[in-house]
Amino acid sequence: MISAPSLTKDELDEVYGKGACQFQSSDHLMTLVFSQSRPFDLIELEQLLQSVGWSHRPARKVRRALAYSLLKVGLWKHEAGLPRLIGFARCTGDGVIEATVWDVAILPVYQGYGFGKQLMSYLIKSLQEMGIKRITLFADPGVVDFYRSQGWVLEPRGNRCAFWYAN
Ligand SMILES: CC(C)(COP(=O)(O)OP(=O)(O)OC[C@H]1O[C@@H](n2cnc3c(N)ncnc32)[C@H](O)[C@@H]1OP(=O)(O)O)[C@@H](O)C(=O)NCCC(=O)NCCS
Repeated sequence: MISAPSLTKDELDEVYGKGACQFQSSDHLMTLVFSQSRPFDLIELEQLLQSVGWSHRPARKVRRALAYSLLKVGLWKHEAGLPRLIGFARCTGDGVIEATVWDVAILPVYQGYGFGKQLMSYLIKSLQEMGIKRITLFADPGVVDFYRSQGWVLEPRGNRCAFWYAN
C-alpha cells in the first residue's frame, strides 16, 4: 500500500506555520495537518461552515471574530500547492483561566473518520498548554453525544446551569 507522503519539518513550518502538527488518516491515504497560524481564506472558511448548515456571516465580522479569538485551528488536508481546509474550530477566552469553544466543523465528506474527535483533543491539549483548565461549549442537540463520549459533562447537573442570551 502506498502511504501519503509526510512533510519535512521545514515544509511543515513553511506551509502551515510553526507548531503545526501532522498526522495520517487511518487508511494512510491522506496527510492531515492541524495549524493555528496558517491564514484562512475567508471564502473557503465560509464554504466549510455553510456546508455543515450554518447561516452566512459577513466576511468583515468573521475576520474580526478570528482576530479576537484566543485560538483558531484549521484542519488541512495536505495537497502539494493547495492545502484544503476540511475542519475548523476556534476558542474565545481570557487566555489564562477560561475558554469557550465555538464553530467546530468538519466538512461533510470527511465526517465519520475520527477527525472531529482528533480536532477536539488537539484543542483541549492546546488550551491546557496555555494553563487553561476550565473549558466550556454550547452544543447543538444533535451533537450532545459526540461531546459526551469524549468526557464533556452536560449541564445542568443541578448545581450549575448554562444560560444563553441572544437576540
Ligand atoms: C460534530 C462533528 C464535528 C463530528 O465530526 P466527525 O469527524 O464526523 O466525528 P468523528 O468521526 O471524530 O466521531 C468521533 C466519535 O463521535 C461519534 N459521533 C460523531 N458525530 C456524532 C453525533 N452527531 N452524535 C453522536 N455521536 C457522534 C462518532 O460515531 C465517533 O464515535 P466512536 O469514537 O465511538 O467511533 C461533525 O459531524 C460536524 O462538523 N457536524 C456539523 C457541525 C456541528 O454540528 N458541529 C458541532 C457544533 S456544537
